[in-house]
Amino acid sequence: MPEHFILSGLPAEEYPELESTNSFLKSRAKDASGELAVIALSQTGGRGRLGRSFFSPGGGLYLSALLRNLPENFYEFITPAAAVAVAEALEECGSERASIKWVNDIYIREKKVCGILAETANTPDRAVIVGIGVNLIDPPGGFPKEIRDRAGAAFLSPSPNIRRALAEIIIRNLKREIPQKPDLTARYRSRSNLIGKEVTVIGPKTYPATVLGIDDAFRLIVSTAGVTRTLNAGEVSVKM
Ligand code: BTN
Repeated sequence: MPEHFILSGLPAEEYPELESTNSFLKSRAKDASGELAVIALSQTGGRGRLGRSFFSPGGGLYLSALLRNLPENFYEFITPAAAVAVAEALEECGSERASIKWVNDIYIREKKVCGILAETANTPDRAVIVGIGVNLIDPPGGFPKEIRDRAGAAFLSPSPNIRRALAEIIIRNLKREIPQKPDLTARYRSRSNLIGKEVTVIGPKTYPATVLGIDDAFRLIVSTAGVTRTLNAGEVSVKM
């Protein structure tokens, strides 16, 4: 049986283990009325962007929120809004400076500590499921070797109640960003750890580029071989 509680006004359920909190909420979205948050202490099939898996051992925060009746243009900004909400929440909980790697990864001490996966819920009321996975601590057996060089823990010595406390602030911040706050783009940009950097663009074509900036629709502007290109997050990713 899950534990029931309220997270910043949202009914919430916590499970010791789920396959994926996003998949769980997707199957609940059609029946459950209203909004809902779900936390799992570990996931057996955590999902990331672009069909990747998300390493989800015990000791992390695996949180998904089902939010309904979002503004019409919500697709454009829900992921950046979640990134800013998480970065600000981590710092409020005592982390070091949290930066954002376009479009949805949170970095602390140059390591990825959090990934975000926003998905539509396939309901008629413009609902979205925002899934957030945070490495609160280094996992007991360490990170798998495929991600060891880029994954890290958000906190060095977190307080015992950090999971709930962080989840509460993330939900509060996320709800505060909807409807879109006018300064969201500026706050997103100011946390970018890509602007000015040399990157590899990975998509239908792979090529080196320099990041020039992020536009008002949260697209990445790069320069490659003297040509300026605007990249859409759904189509490409970048490697630092
Ligand atoms: C990424 O880094 O590509 C995004 C990772 C998103 C992981 C979170 S953990 C909670 C929620 N449930 C999932 O299966 N995925 C998201």
